[in-house]
Amino acid sequence: MSSVPAVEFSEYDPKDLSGMSDHVAVLVTPEGVMDQAARTANRLTKGAIARLIDSESFKKAKSGQVISMAWPAGLAADSLHILVLSRKLTPVEARQAGAKLAAASAGKPLTIMAGSMHKAAELAQGIALRSYTFEAHKSLDEAKPEVAVTVAHKAPEEIAEAYAPLAAVAEGVHMTRDLVNEPANVLTTSEFANRIEGMREIGLEVEVLEEEELEKLGMRTLLSVGQGSDSPSKVAIMKWNGGAEGAAPLALVGKGVVFDTGGISLKPAGGMEDMTMDMGGAGVVTGTMKALALRKAKANVVGLVGLVENMPSGNATRPGDVVKSMKGDTVEIINTDAEGRLVLCDVIWYAQERFNPSAVIDLATLTGAVIIGLGHENAGVFSNDDEICNAFLKAARLEDEGAWRMPLGKAYDDQLKSRIADMKNVGGRPAGSITAAQFLQRFVKDDMPWIHLDIAGVASVKSATSYAPKGATGWGVMALNRLVAIKYETE
Ligand code: BES
Ligand code: MN
Ligand code: ZN
Repeated sequence: MSSVPAVEFSEYDPKDLSGMSDHVAVLVTPEGVMDQAARTANRLTKGAIARLIDSESFKKAKSGQVISMAWPAGLAADSLHILVLSRKLTPVEARQAGAKLAAASAGKPLTIMAGSMHKAAELAQGIALRSYTFEAHKSLDEAKPEVAVTVAHKAPEEIAEAYAPLAAVAEGVHMTRDLVNEPANVLTTSEFANRIEGMREIGLEVEVLEEEELEKLGMRTLLSVGQGSDSPSKVAIMKWNGGAEGAAPLALVGKGVVFDTGGISLKPAGGMEDMTMDMGGAGVVTGTMKALALRKAKANVVGLVGLVENMPSGNATRPGDVVKSMKGDTVEIINTDAEGRLVLCDVIWYAQERFNPSAVIDLATLTGAVIIGLGHENAGVFSNDDEICNAFLKAARLEDEGAWRMPLGKAYDDQLKSRIADMKNVGGRPAGSITAAQFLQRFVKDDMPWIHLDIAGVASVKSATSYAPKGATGWGVMALNRLVAIKYETE
C-alpha cells in the first residue's frame, strides 16, 4: 500500500548546499530575482542560474513552473530544480508547483531550499499528493526506498504545524487511490470492509451491516444488486464525532460496487476491466473519513458505503424484476447495469432514518453519460439546495477539483414512470446522468439538503493529472474535507 512520503522541515542555511540529497530545488521569482539559496547555487554553478534567467526562454516563465538542470557542474546533486514562484502565491499555485517538483524528481531524495516562502506547507502537500505510486502487484527487482523530502525553511516549526492537516488530507487521498486502483479479486466486499475496520485505529467508530441485517432492514434494492455474486453485500458505517455532542452529522454516502459486469444486462468485453473502479464513490467517502479523523476535524460526519458486486448468475436479478426498497417504494429493474442507484437509494434512505443528518452528500461512478457531458475534467453536481451546493462548488474551486452543476426537474423525473411499479430504474438515453440523479432524489426526504456527485469521469483517468499519476485520482477528498472545514467545523 502506498503511503505519503515523510516530509522533514529543517533549518534553512542558504550558504550550505553541500551534502544535499540527489535533487535540490531553489527559488527564483518570475522577474528573475534569486533568493539567498539560489544565489549560493548560482555561485557554485558558476552562474548557471543567472544565464538561465537571462535566456529568452525564461522570459516566458510563469509562476509555478519548474526548470530542471541535470548534473549541475559545481553542485553535489544529480539535479538542480529552479522553482519559479512569485512572492504572492495562492495555496493552489504552491501545491501545483510542489506536484510538478515531485514529478520532476521522480521519487529521488529531494531538498527544497524554501527560505522564507509562505505556502511552503502547501508546496509540501503538492509533493505528497504527486508522489503516489501503485505497485502492490508489481514484482520489483529491488525494494524501492521511501521517498525522502526535506523542506529547509526559516520557520521550520511553523511550517511543520501548517503541514500536519495537509498531510492528513494527502493520506486520505492516497487511501482513496489505493482502493480505486485495487483489482476486484483483491478488493472484494469483505476486503473493503476489512480495510474500513482498520480505521478504528485512528479513532473512527466503524460498524459493518451484514446481509442478514440488511434483509431485516428491508434493503431489497441494494441486495438485489449483489445477489448474483459470491461476495456478500455489506453496508459499512464510519463515524467521526469531532463536533458538538448531539449535533446532527453530515452524511456522506458512497457507491461501492467492487466490480460492475452489468449483471444480466452484461456489459461488452472491451473496457470492462475498468469497472474495478466502480467503488469510487465509496473510496472517496472512506478516504475523506480518514482525512477527517487524522486531522481531528471538529465536526460530526458519518460515512456510509454500500459494498456489493454486480455479477450475472442463476441467482442474479433479471431485467423486469420488481423489488421493494427500504423506503417502501417498488422499482422495476429494466436494466441490471443501472445498479448504482439501486445501491444508493437504500443507503441514502437508511442514512436519513438512522442519523437524521443535517445534509446528505452521495458520491458515485454512476453514469457513462456524465463522461460524455463533462469529460474527465469535472464531476457532475446535482442538488436540491443552492446553499450547500454553492458551498461545495466553492470548496471544490478552492481545492482545484473540477465540479459543474447540472439541472434537475420534473420532466426528467417523469421519465422514470413504470407501468407496473412505483418507478423504473432507467429513463431513456437522453440526459442519462440527470434521470439517474432524479431516481436518487426520490429517496431524499423533503427539506433534506442533498448533493449528488457523479464522479464516473473523474475518479480514475488514463493520463496523469496535476496531482496524480494515471489511474485513480482521489478526486473529491480534498473538496469534501474543505467543505467540512468551511461549513461544518465549530471553530
Ligand atoms: N458503473 C457504471 C457507470 C460508469 C461508466 C462508470 C463508465 C465509470 C465509467 C454504471 O453502473 C452503469 O453501468 N451505468 C449505465 C446506466 C445505463 C444502463 C442507464 C451507463 O452509464 O451506461
Ligand atoms: Mn452498471
Ligand atoms: Zn456501476
